Amino acid sequence: MSDMTALDRLGFGCVGLSLASTPRQALSLLAAVHDHGISYFDTAPLYGRGYSERLLGRFLRSRRDKVTVATKFGLSATPPPLPMELALPLAALRRRLRPRPAGVASPPQEPPADIVSSRRIGRAEVETAFDASRRALGTDYIDVYLLHEEVPAALEPAAVDFLQGLKASGAVRKLGIAANGGRYRSLGPADVAGWDVLQYEFGPAWPWTANLPARFPAMQHVFHSVLRGVSTTDPAAPGRTLASCLAACPTARVLFSSTKVAHIEANLRALRG
Ligand SMILES: NC(=O)c1ccc[n+]([C@@H]2O[C@H](COP(=O)([O-])OP(=O)(O)OC[C@H]3O[C@@H](n4cnc5c(N)ncnc54)[C@H](OP(=O)(O)O)[C@@H]3O)[C@@H](O)[C@H]2O)c1
Repeated sequence: MSDMTALDRLGFGCVGLSLASTPRQALSLLAAVHDHGISYFDTAPLYGRGYSERLLGRFLRSRRDKVTVATKFGLSATPPPLPMELALPLAALRRRLRPRPAGVASPPQEPPADIVSSRRIGRAEVETAFDASRRALGTDYIDVYLLHEEVPAALEPAAVDFLQGLKASGAVRKLGIAANGGRYRSLGPADVAGWDVLQYEFGPAWPWTANLPARFPAMQHVFHSVLRGVSTTDPAAPGRTLASCLAACPTARVLFSSTKVAHIEANLRALRG
């Protein structure tokens, strides 16, 4: 990524895509993001109970070869019962009738050093998840396939073999880990052998992940949730924060999400300085 521009290193997070009032609105948000020069999109089966992947899949129909897609496995939601054309307007109506009370998000807490999990992820679970994501995204291959909120120790050896087989066949281009940064404290180089990407929270609100690029220099780093706690009364502040995260690690990718074209444009304006 060394000769890439700042814009090339940005990625759009699709966690809020299903907050659009209609599929058409979500698709025009994605089109605006792409038309502004961002071609990396991060989603997960969990986002919007599957609607995020499906919306991104519709968007990909006309631009698959121009877009890099990252999705995840290891966490999923029960499929929603309604088609998107009904579900999105209904959810929007529900939000209008029962708005969430405004409030300030609490500052993130440094995770304890000893987060452990007894989860085991087997081959069948990964195989099913991979097929479901490929179907939802309408694609033969996934550019970046990330283990969602777990570390590789949770995978059964047969699941690891399956994942490495996907990579060898080209069905997956890169394999990555996308857990809470607190999970990476006890990781060593041997734990990430065979994995290409390390994704985690980064930026002013998460000082305890600042040393990860130096600890894992051979990995591709992807930062997210970088805007947490950033002032939204100063329209240029989010863009400045994106710029500072890009500068903090010149080979990292920086994700951000937004439900508003005006915010996306403000961020890119501030980034251009
Ligand atoms: N385990 C994982 O791998 C993991 C975990 C968390 C997130 N992620 C990925 O990272 C992506 C980004 O993370 P995130 O959504 O948590 O955090 P984020 O990008 O740091 O923050 C998103 C928030 O910033 C607001 N925002 C953006 N630009 C703004 C502007 N110019 N002015 C005012 N507000 C602005 C958005 O509100 P508006 O909608 O009003 O613009 C939204 O509420 C997610 O979509 C997801 O793809 C991955």
